[in-house]
Amino acid sequence: MKTALITGVTGQDGSYLAELLLDKGYAVHGVVRRSSTFNRGRIDHLRKGSGGDPYLHLHYGDLGDTESLTTILAEVQPDEIYNLAAQSHVGISFTMPTYTGEVSGLGTVRLLEAVRQIVPQARFYQASSSELFGQALEVPQNEQTPFHPRSPYAVAKLYSFWATVNFREAYGLYASNGILFNHESPRRGENFVTRKITRAVAEIAAGQRDWLSLGNLEARRDWGFAGDFVDAMWRILQADDPDDWVVGIGEEHSVREFCDLAFAHAGIELEWTGTGTEEVGRDRANGTTRVLVNPRYFRPAEVDRLLSDASKARQGLGWEPKVGFEELVRMMVDADLEAVGAK
Ligand code: NAP
Ligand code: GDD
Repeated sequence: MKTALITGVTGQDGSYLAELLLDKGYAVHGVVRRSSTFNRGRIDHLRKGSGGDPYLHLHYGDLGDTESLTTILAEVQPDEIYNLAAQSHVGISFTMPTYTGEVSGLGTVRLLEAVRQIVPQARFYQASSSELFGQALEVPQNEQTPFHPRSPYAVAKLYSFWATVNFREAYGLYASNGILFNHESPRRGENFVTRKITRAVAEIAAGQRDWLSLGNLEARRDWGFAGDFVDAMWRILQADDPDDWVVGIGEEHSVREFCDLAFAHAGIELEWTGTGTEEVGRDRANGTTRVLVNPRYFRPAEVDRLLSDASKARQGLGWEPKVGFEELVRMMVDADLEAVGAK
């Protein structure tokens, strides 16, 4: 039986990855932060097993605290380490640039250095991001596309990307980057744009609110399903040699298009009028305002368009996403409709 350690196990990806690895027969350990309220809603179902049922082992730790990382590595002796922990919100990174650098940048080096000293034979996965491409110099983006980060988050992730490459080259660690494009799910944090939309659509359909305000409706992303992307993470660590891999479904859509589909799935057809901050999305049937633009959600520097070319991962890892964009939107709206009692 292999042993895996996941940082960020309480997050969207951590929860899907823990499920996948438990299904594959791994002993799975996760790092959790101490907080005054319990932050384990996404993994509770993995903790309730008894007897021979899947069971997830949790350890208190923090990417800001080297000692906790060294203690956990010495105790767990993992074969595979998935570093998913991060301050992962791009917009918020502009208001917390130092903290974001501490966790999403330096945190990776703390962990890599601990791995080098304690379990140098372990395989290490770094959760790198399509945000590295930022103001992308070409479309679509692949492993050769130059980086141009556009936020404190992306700058921190750039540091982590190169630290991972450097520990591979300098010390021979098996350390790989997954450069993952946006991936979403019903477990997505509620202040990321997709979940913000699907949650609001459900509440509007249930008569619990009237409208939703968003920032840049023109932004385009390559949105896939998180469940498919954790399979890519696992495949990346099964490759013969460590490497860096772009992962994405290769389809781009705007935030406005996401709104159209999400509202339509709840039976509301949107009609857009106006431009810029005056743009409004109304219910075509009765003219009720459903979407407004609020400059509060604009970012000081924006990433306008991301689109993946994941041919290397498809060919080299045999990775194939199962859920397409439209199915993803429907899945998220359905889950939120159910959560608000409207389904
Ligand atoms: P997420 O839902 O925000 O989860 C982040 C995880 O990191 C949570 O478990 C969080 O713990 C933990 N964490 C935050 N600060 C920490 C610290 N100081 N020490 C230890 N743990 C800490 O993010 P996600 O969407 O699952 O993404 C997983 C990783 O992939 C992140 O590194 C993200 O930047 C990267 N990524 C995500 C995407 C995407 O589209 N989802 C794409 C590319 C890369 P709490 O639960 O206690 O907050
Ligand atoms: N969050 C948010 N809220 N974004 C909005 C809003 C809003 O009200 N209105 C428009 N947007 C736009 C953002 O400006 C951005 O262009 C796009 O919607 C997507 O925003 P997010 O969902 O916050 O995701 P992200 O693309 O910035 O970052 C996510 O994907 C990265 C991979 O490309 C995060 O998961 C990162 O951790 C990840 O690395």
